[in-house]
Amino acid sequence: MNYSKIAGTGSYLPNRVVTNSELQTRIDTSDEWIVSRTGIEARHIAAEGEKTTDLAEHAARAAMAAANVNADDIDLIIVATTTPDKVFPSTACLLQARLGVKQGAAFDVQAVCTGFVYALSIADKFVASGQHRCALVVGAEIFSRLLDWNDRRTCVLFGDGAGAVVLKASKEPGILSSHLYADGSMGHILQVDGGVSAGKLADNPYLQMDGAAVFRLATRVLHECATEALRHNGFTVEDLDWLVPHQANMRIINSTTDKLNLPRERVITTVAQHGNTSAASVPLALDTAVRDQRIKPGQLVLIEGVGGGMTWGSVLLRF
Ligand code: COA
Repeated sequence: MNYSKIAGTGSYLPNRVVTNSELQTRIDTSDEWIVSRTGIEARHIAAEGEKTTDLAEHAARAAMAAANVNADDIDLIIVATTTPDKVFPSTACLLQARLGVKQGAAFDVQAVCTGFVYALSIADKFVASGQHRCALVVGAEIFSRLLDWNDRRTCVLFGDGAGAVVLKASKEPGILSSHLYADGSMGHILQVDGGVSAGKLADNPYLQMDGAAVFRLATRVLHECATEALRHNGFTVEDLDWLVPHQANMRIINSTTDKLNLPRERVITTVAQHGNTSAASVPLALDTAVRDQRIKPGQLVLIEGVGGGMTWGSVLLRF
């Protein structure tokens, strides 16, 4: 039996940090409002001219170095992004060229904030089937360019960044299960309606959100996903070393954690300093906790996400 296992992680954040204090000089908001509703204190914002592929490349190179692999080893690149640099080629193909990878497949996955969970699940199937041996799975986003910076209900919530893992074929289990879901009938509660069509920008190019509806759905499905992943593998909450949830909002994360009866010390959170970086949020949080040595080899880690679509899902893995 073939499995896939994470061999290395990496991440990257743009240099510029925008604090809540800076935002309150520009729009009618306050540090107190943002922190009490979301837990977010600051976010990183890409520089003008900085591209999603740039962020992805930094994160990918860090993950490749951690896994001790080079361009000749990688035979699959999947990039989860909602903010590709171009309509096409895909960000994965742009990244493949940057890294000098000459073999295998490269494609993007679009599941918004659940994108990395989807991409990791897909990569696991490809690697476990034996068809591919070494995958680079990246979540990279420049969400700041989808925001109306005059809309205080949405612009305070998001940030830019990238995270990556190298997923290798293994004889021992790494990824134990993945469960993916979507409910397209809920798409309107979190969307960017606009796009390029017939040479023009059609409809609203900014993110629109029914915050309360997203909050309700997120707290429900993240709890369901976590419970399902543990039960499916015959584990209980006591067996779980770490939960690495999508970093949208501290209140959503705390609600999920408390409903599970999981001690909050066993949850990795980066949302305070990163904001919601969409598909980059889970691999950024994962890499943070791997590098500060909280997550150690052999530990049981549950990652989960929820986002536009609406989409949601989990991956349970032995690190
Ligand atoms: N600063 C100050 N006031 C703000 C504000 C801001 N940045 N954003 C909204 N407000 C105001 C609203 O206008 C409203 O004022 P009103 O009552 O005078 O109309 C008031 O604060 C309360 O707004 P409300 O939407 O009820 O706040 P909330 O407690 O529900 O929190 C969210 C709003 C967005 C933080 C919350 O709904 C949420 O976290 N939703 C999930 C969002 C998310 O995670 N999306 C991504 C998922 S992948």
